Formats: sequence, structure tokens, C-alpha cells
Amino acid sequence: MYQTVKGTYDILSEDYRKFEMVNTLFKHFLDLYGYEIMKTPVFEYTGVFSKENDTSDMVTKEMYTFSMNGKDSLTLRPEGTAGIIRSFVQNKMYSKELPVKLAYIEEMFRHERPQKGRQRQFTQLGVENIGDKNPMIDAEVIALGYFFVKTLGLKSIKVCINTLGDATSRLKYKEALKTYFDEYRDQLCYDCQNRLDKNPLRILDCKIDHDLECVKNAPKMHDYLTEESAAYFKKVLEYLDALEIPYTIDNNLVRGLDYYTDTVFEVVSTHEVSGSQSTIFGGGRYDNLVKEMGGPEISGIGFAIGEERLIILAEAEGVFDEYKPYVDAYVIDMTKGSAYALKIANDLRMNSYTTEINYYDRSMKSQFKSSDRKGARFVVIIGEDEMNKNTVMLKDTRTREQYEVNSDELVDKLDLLMEGEDE
Ligand code: HAM
Repeated sequence: MYQTVKGTYDILSEDYRKFEMVNTLFKHFLDLYGYEIMKTPVFEYTGVFSKENDTSDMVTKEMYTFSMNGKDSLTLRPEGTAGIIRSFVQNKMYSKELPVKLAYIEEMFRHERPQKGRQRQFTQLGVENIGDKNPMIDAEVIALGYFFVKTLGLKSIKVCINTLGDATSRLKYKEALKTYFDEYRDQLCYDCQNRLDKNPLRILDCKIDHDLECVKNAPKMHDYLTEESAAYFKKVLEYLDALEIPYTIDNNLVRGLDYYTDTVFEVVSTHEVSGSQSTIFGGGRYDNLVKEMGGPEISGIGFAIGEERLIILAEAEGVFDEYKPYVDAYVIDMTKGSAYALKIANDLRMNSYTTEINYYDRSMKSQFKSSDRKGARFVVIIGEDEMNKNTVMLKDTRTREQYEVNSDELVDKLDLLMEGEDE
């Protein structure tokens, strides 16, 4: 018997419903903030994701890369931003009115060690705001994500924010980190010893070394910011204050991807169910990605939410508890499968009433129980008698009233009874 591949999972129908609920709310938020969904291919040329001298774990260790017939190197997308920017440049979206505000709900693939909340195939809900560098946009992007998860019903979340500064700030900071960590080289893990030479920023978010005293006491970015970058960050924080979004400044937040510049942020769960995979979503600004992809010098900012992680937390916080099954009508068929009963059910469906019908030779009592389990608003009872008279017995499960109705008047009767109901 085949099983799913390690790190991949089926989304069973009862869980799919939760994904749909989350997606519906996310799409509503995209409308509120003016973002449009687009799709990019599941695989791209490897160069879309990986740049020379890349130091992120995602690019150096976790990509599913393959080539067909020894030709081009292709990669299953490990994240959404690079593909969106590739498309932005390829389709010359920069000639539209800026900023261009794009969103995606897509599967991503990373060869990580699987555990709860960390999968090899997972779903991201993401947005990218491409075109302008303006602290108001940074705050607005964070607001979209923050108020979305708040509205979903999450309580135990925290916004962490930092700045990586502009190129000048980062250069000075990296030099300072290099000089500092050189003294502690022996204490660092094998990967961080390499990072020290290539990109010492990466040491700050190393999963192995992050508890070391020398990492905690490392020089802070804030002391190396140019005046311009410091003022930009201050402005972002001012906007967050105005939007009443609580945040913590985390000096060691550098994020796991190499393309970030200036503002970076994460929303983390403080609930025990999230364990070590507590980052619900993360994002930041990228000044150079569009240019590196062959486009003009245009900045962007975005985030991506890990939908599976979000759902684990939402379940623990009871977000889905209110869900009750519901259908407009349940057809109780005592005619042992007559075409008459099937036609009545189909007519209801064609008039936009969600309808279930009993398929089995069962007692009226057991069919009533089934209609309860399905959450039927109305029950349509059809026996031999009704069939001969071309009628049905309609029962309103809320008022408990019963009506004998001609089959061709059933829809009108339901329209009347349901007037003003929004389910
Ligand atoms: P990221 O931090 O690599 O950023 O991923 C974003 C979110 O995806 C994480 O916070 C986490 O919730 C989820 N995630 C990542 N890896 C896994 C995994 N193996 N299993 C389950 N969930 C996972 C990005 O991908 C950037 N593209 C975000 C961004 C958009 N930055 C700017 N624009």
C-alpha cells in the first residue's frame, strides 16, 4: 500500500473546509487592501530562486532541483516572491501604475526535516507590493497580515520587527559582525563558521547557535544605520503606532532569505501548540530583487503566511469550533428511490437550494437522524401518497410547522419561508 511521501500530507475534506474558510477571509482582505491574485508555475529555472553567493538555508540546502534530459536546471518553487518578481519583470508590469499589488495562494516545496508545522509541501498565502519605497506601504502591508489573522480570531500572536538598513548600513554592520564573531569562531557551528566569511548576518538567526551568549551580545544593527535608514524605520514604527498594531523590536531578526533590505518582520505565535514552528508569517522589503531579475530599479515589500501553521494555531484557539454542518433541504425518500424524489432534489439544487437526498432503504426515523446530522434547514418528505398526488410534505425544522405543497410550488414556498434569512 502506498503512503504519502515523507513531509507531505493529504488535506482531508474536513480540513479542506478550514483551508477554504481561511482562503475566503484572506481574499476578502485582499479586496479590502486592493491586491489581485495571480499564479506562477510550480517550477521555474533554478536561477529564479538562487543567486550567486546565496547563503540562505532555503537556497543552499532545501530546494527540489532537477533537470530533464540533462538540460536546464529546474526547481520546484520554495517560496512565492521570486516567481512573482520574475513575472513582474517578464510581463513588464512596471509600466503599469505603481505600486502593483499582487497576491498568491500556492503550494511551496522545501526539503526540510519534517515536524509539526514544518512540511516539505506547504501552502503560502502571500502578498507583494511592488513599485514604491515608502514607510506607509511597509506599515500597510504589515497591517493587512496582522488584521487578517486577528479577524480570523487569533489571539496569541506577536509582531516582531527589525530593519536591515540600506546597502551602506548593512556593509558597515556586516564588517562589525565579522570582526566581532572572528573572536568566537571556535564556538560557532560548522555552518556559521562558513557564514562568517560569506554573510555574518545569517549567524544571528542560526537555529543551532541562536542561544549562544556571543550571538545574543553581538553588535546591533541599529548602531550602524545610516541616518536615512534610521529615519525610514522610525517612520514605519510611527505608522504602526497610529494603526494600533503592537510590536516588539527584535534586533536579531534577520529573516532566512538573502534578498531583504530595510524593514523585516515576523508574526509569531505565543501559543504552546505552535512549539518550535512558531513563525506564522514573515516578510520584508527587497530593494534589489526586481533589478536582479532584469527589471528596473524598483523596490517591493511583501509577506507570506504558512497556511498549515496558521490552521494549527487557529484550531487550538477554537476558531473553527463554531462550524455547524448545514444544508437548505434534506429529501426524506420513503418511495425507495423513485425518479420523482430524485427530480425534486435536483429541481431544488437548480434553484440554488443546497440539497441532500437519502439513497438507502431506511426507516423514516433514521432518515430524520441523517437530516439532523447534515444540519438540514428544511426536510422534504416524499412517500407513495405524496408521489401519487404530485406533492411533498415540507417541514420547517426551526418552527416545526409542516405544509403539504404541490411539487411545482415547492421552490416558491421555500423562497417565501426563507425570506430574510442569509444562510
Ligand atoms: P519564509 O519566512 O521563508 O518567507 O516563509 C514564510 C512562512 O511560510 C513562514 O513564516 C512559515 O509560516 C511558512 N513556512 C516556511 N517553511 C515552511 C515549511 N517547511 N512548512 C510549513 N510552513 C512553512 C518567504 O517565503 C518569503 N517569500 C516571504 C516574503 C514575501 N517576503 C517578502 N515577500
